[in-house]
Amino acid sequence: MRIALAMLLYLNALYAVEGKEVYEKKCASCHQGYIPMSKLKENFQDYNNTLLKLVAPTLNQLSYRLKKSIGDPKGDNEIHRMEVAAFITEYVLHPDRQKSLCLDEVMQSFQTMPSLEGKVSEEELEAVSTYIYDFDEKVVEEHSVAYEGFEKALQKAKNEHKIIMLKVMTKDCYFCRKMEREVMVENEVVEMLEKDFIPVAIDISTTELPLGLNTELTPSFIFIDENAKVLLNIPGAWGKKDFLDILREAKMKQK
Ligand code: HEC
Repeated sequence: MRIALAMLLYLNALYAVEGKEVYEKKCASCHQGYIPMSKLKENFQDYNNTLLKLVAPTLNQLSYRLKKSIGDPKGDNEIHRMEVAAFITEYVLHPDRQKSLCLDEVMQSFQTMPSLEGKVSEEELEAVSTYIYDFDEKVVEEHSVAYEGFEKALQKAKNEHKIIMLKVMTKDCYFCRKMEREVMVENEVVEMLEKDFIPVAIDISTTELPLGLNTELTPSFIFIDENAKVLLNIPGAWGKKDFLDILREAKMKQK
């Protein structure tokens, strides 16, 4: 009995449709993969799509926009997944610009999507919907800076003469997530942080700040030197250019 069950699971895994594969085979010819938010903004706002010449929203645009606009993103995750999957399935079979959730400035660059009715199975649609749903979180995880615990970071700061960048956040803070998604994945930011800083993230809804620090504004960025002295304390969410300036200012204050 157990062997039969194991066999069944094995076969299931063998035949399971991979969302990524479906995407690459049936969607990627039009919908490109990951392109950083800043590049996309530049392309659509300043260049009227002449820079990237996209023919459809990118995978990260789809993931971000659909999850944000359909149902209640903060509500029950299983229900939200089903709602997003239902939208994708309906759209792929019966595309309709009136129902599109893309920004108008983006949509005006695109033709209407051709229907894939008869070209994609229900199972494939289910798999590709899951892939699109999870993509946006995965990108942030893969491209963003790595965060350390504070004690370890302080030791490392001493050894390597680096500055701790303490990000004060909560899990539900919209602007924290926005900055994580749009700024912390930018190459220049990641490179500068990796070279001279040790990033630490503390969720103040669950954890106290170290060194008796106290702030209720999220996000806040507190820069601390190797002697545990606060160099700068900057509340607020920032764009890439301003954030790079803040990092430079912290460096100037370091002895
Ligand atoms: C031949 C090109 C092409 C292919 C192949 C294609 N799409 Fe599209 N798709 C588009 C274009 C162009 C748009 C934007 C215009 C529109 O909404 O009709 C779009 C829009 C969408 C939207 C709506 C986005 C929104 O903001 O509302 C979804 C969802 C979508 N595509 C999913 C898919 C999935 C999933 C696949 C693969 C199974 C796929 N598409 C394959 C061209 C394509």
